Amino acid sequence: MAVEKKDLDWGSLDFGYRKTDVSYVSNWKDGAWDEGGLTADHSLNLSECAGIFHYCQACFEGLKAYTTEDGKIVCFRPDLNAQRMYESAERLEMPPFPVDRFVDAVKQVVAANAAWVPPFGSGATLYVRPLMIATGDVIGVAPADEYQFRILVTPVGPYFKGGLKPIKLRISEYDRAAPHGTGNIKAGLNYAMSLKPTMDAHRAGFAENLYLDSQSRTYVEETGGANVLFVTKDGTLVVPQSHTDSILPSITRRSLVQVAEDLGITVVQRPVEWAEVKSGAFVECGLCGTAAVISPVGEIHEDETVVSFPAGHDEIGPVMKKLRETLTGIQDGAVEDKHNWVFEI
Ligand code: PLP
Ligand code: COI
Repeated sequence: MAVEKKDLDWGSLDFGYRKTDVSYVSNWKDGAWDEGGLTADHSLNLSECAGIFHYCQACFEGLKAYTTEDGKIVCFRPDLNAQRMYESAERLEMPPFPVDRFVDAVKQVVAANAAWVPPFGSGATLYVRPLMIATGDVIGVAPADEYQFRILVTPVGPYFKGGLKPIKLRISEYDRAAPHGTGNIKAGLNYAMSLKPTMDAHRAGFAENLYLDSQSRTYVEETGGANVLFVTKDGTLVVPQSHTDSILPSITRRSLVQVAEDLGITVVQRPVEWAEVKSGAFVECGLCGTAAVISPVGEIHEDETVVSFPAGHDEIGPVMKKLRETLTGIQDGAVEDKHNWVFEI
């Protein structure tokens, strides 16, 4: 049954937090997850010695729920978020939350907040943020013995101000992730170390940093919160790969590779040198992720050097536009979901 939506100005939402009705919570104690359930309490009361505060045992996910034209509520590929969080938890010596329980928890918490899922066509979505933290006490460097898994949801608008207006990036002098470190998992610690570079970039008038591989500073990796994509003059989609496994395996990017192939676009996944980008090999550039969707990039700066993407400089370029429309169409039901990516709540 369709619920009455909240009375919000959906079209003017930014990417911010707003409390909704309920969150999902489950606790791990004595070697097992409890049965979990919904809670209207949006705060946590923790020991000062909880592992999260000292050794940063924390990981999270991000996915979205959408209202389709015929009023259904759907999520996009929650099983892949469940799997990635499983891997993040294992890498941080945290007890993984079972994949099927994760998907069921997403279903419960989105269904219970149906009134907060923005209406079809509003441009807004319900952002779903699963997270896991160490709640047990630790003082020596060790994994904690108690954890909490939670899912909060909040309605959001575009991640980058200006929506589809091409953004400017700059090459960061800082590194995001060490080779063979934690760049390929969604650990909070990766984001803590990108905060200063991000704020420096904002203060200098850029939307985000583009990070190079920290081993050789030769290859393009990704930004603080999204993967990067390029398009060549002949319309090939080039997807940067890391030879040191330090790029987050974006679910949006993996989906776009398939979408592009379905559209007959040639896709090449390979390491991409920053020198190649500077040489003008690409006519379009974009960031992709759950929050970013596909955000067009107009320029990348490195000191005095400016790389401009001619086909997407003033407005989103044709390839990024087509990919964006197709992906968002699959997500909100306007385009056929050939690969069974859409999960009905
Ligand atoms: N890269 C980073 C560092 C991110 O934080 C995100 C966001 O989740 C992404 C890429 C995009 O991943 P996804 O498409 O799975 O949201
Ligand atoms: C997401 O896209 O879901 C993320 O977690 C990225 C974050 C920078 C908001």
